[in-house]
Amino acid sequence: MTSIRPKDRPHTSAALSAAGRPVTDQVHVLRDRINGRQAVVGVVGQGYVGFPLAQRVAECGFTTLGFDVNDATIARCAAGNRHRKYRAIRSVGDLTSVDVIIIAVPTPTRDGEAGREPDLSVVTAAVHTVLASLPDDRRLRLLILESTYAPGTTRNVVAPIVAACRKLNREIALGYSPERIDPGNTTYSLVNTPKVTSGYDEDAAFLTQLFYSQIVDQAVSAPSLEAAEATKILENTFRFINITFAQEFDQYCEQLGISAREVTRLAATKPFGFMPFYAGAGIGGHCIAEDPYYLHQSMQDAGLAAPILGAAIANHEARAGVIRERIVYRLGGRPIHGARILLLGVSYKPGIGDARRSPAELLIAELAAEGAIVDYHDPYIARFAGRDSVDLGSLQPTDYDLCVVVTDHGFVQVRRLEAAGWRVLDTTNSTVSDTPSPAKRGVLERLSGVTRLLRPRPSIKVAS
Ligand SMILES: NC(=O)c1ccc[n+]([C@@H]2O[C@H](COP(=O)([O-])OP(=O)(O)OC[C@H]3O[C@@H](n4cnc5c(N)ncnc54)[C@H](O)[C@@H]3O)[C@@H](O)[C@H]2O)c1
Repeated sequence: MTSIRPKDRPHTSAALSAAGRPVTDQVHVLRDRINGRQAVVGVVGQGYVGFPLAQRVAECGFTTLGFDVNDATIARCAAGNRHRKYRAIRSVGDLTSVDVIIIAVPTPTRDGEAGREPDLSVVTAAVHTVLASLPDDRRLRLLILESTYAPGTTRNVVAPIVAACRKLNREIALGYSPERIDPGNTTYSLVNTPKVTSGYDEDAAFLTQLFYSQIVDQAVSAPSLEAAEATKILENTFRFINITFAQEFDQYCEQLGISAREVTRLAATKPFGFMPFYAGAGIGGHCIAEDPYYLHQSMQDAGLAAPILGAAIANHEARAGVIRERIVYRLGGRPIHGARILLLGVSYKPGIGDARRSPAELLIAELAAEGAIVDYHDPYIARFAGRDSVDLGSLQPTDYDLCVVVTDHGFVQVRRLEAAGWRVLDTTNSTVSDTPSPAKRGVLERLSGVTRLLRPRPSIKVAS
């Protein structure tokens, strides 16, 4: 593994030939255009990953085209653009001038015969679209995939598509660099999170490493496409398995009558060898809730039974049922059919307006299937699961049989709600500490006779 920082990145052809391999003029040209920030960069997919990435590329001085198939997304990107060198485009024909193309489109899962399975159709469609748009000028371009998928996908799925219509390595240098963006994280951004890079051949690996070393503090080159692909899927599956274990431990602690969250906090006082993970309503988001399925299928394709990951997936899929049981218990004998339930927070994690594969989705489906009447409130998400976010200020404790905290955005004090007569189930168990977190200190507002702590309400976030 090698790492090129901006200060020691190679700028000359001598640096290339020092690698001991033949270098074509085309590689020199592209290298110089990247080094000189003259390269035109197209970013395909302007969602949670693609838009901030394109903004950063433009900020670094590259002319940047942000392409998306969604009109509303393009309008939001145009409105949210902060850089003169960035332009949001809806027509793929505008990509003809690009030297570097980055693909950052979704890699979801879908229902298959044996459960959820990877769906690469969006990636393959995007690759086809991009290749069809490029002029047949024999110029070398760098095509980098950022989407998360199983090891072998760039080589065995993407490269054949490229090779079918372009000369792989001569007209298209193929790279892979997994995105590590963590929306809402104020400590680690795209810039100060190291970026792993890789390429189909040495030239592609070099150009990919060179490109990212222009835009992030540290680019780390992986020895192969497969190693870079596996890195990302390991990171996310590591998190997934640990959270599912936290969920299992949480069930165990409930049997014992102790708080798993408090125990985890105590364990985390050990300064080495322990990393805390907390159970909540379940695992959500487009990454952690999806990527393990890609790894699981890949492991099975490799002939492994993968029982640990399989058990984690089973735990994940059963979590909504566990929470439903807690709701039934907390209703205290009142039938779930006809029960009025208010969910607080439906995004997949605190502080952001992203509800993709949110645990609230499964929970609402489970509760509605049993005849419960479910509403929700989330200051970040105006509409969800066919409902509008209700206005907390107009509600009385008697309006609902139970209030369920699904995602703790830090604006509700559960104890105050309870003191005011609300029946509450806090799936995040965040009230166990007597010390309110800084996030819970905020502007005091009134809620139908209940004094609650509110933070200033964020505007609803779009496409960033
Ligand atoms: N969101 C995250 O926090 C995160 C973090 C790390 C990695 N990732 C990975 O990055 C990839 C992208 O995720 P995301 O969260 O940005 O997805 P997203 O859904 O927010 O954005 C993807 C965008 O791609 C667009 N798109 C789809 N097909 C297209 C096409 N053919 N041409 C042009 N645009 C097209 C969609 O309209 C959408 O705007 C995924 O593989 C994901 O696993 C995401």
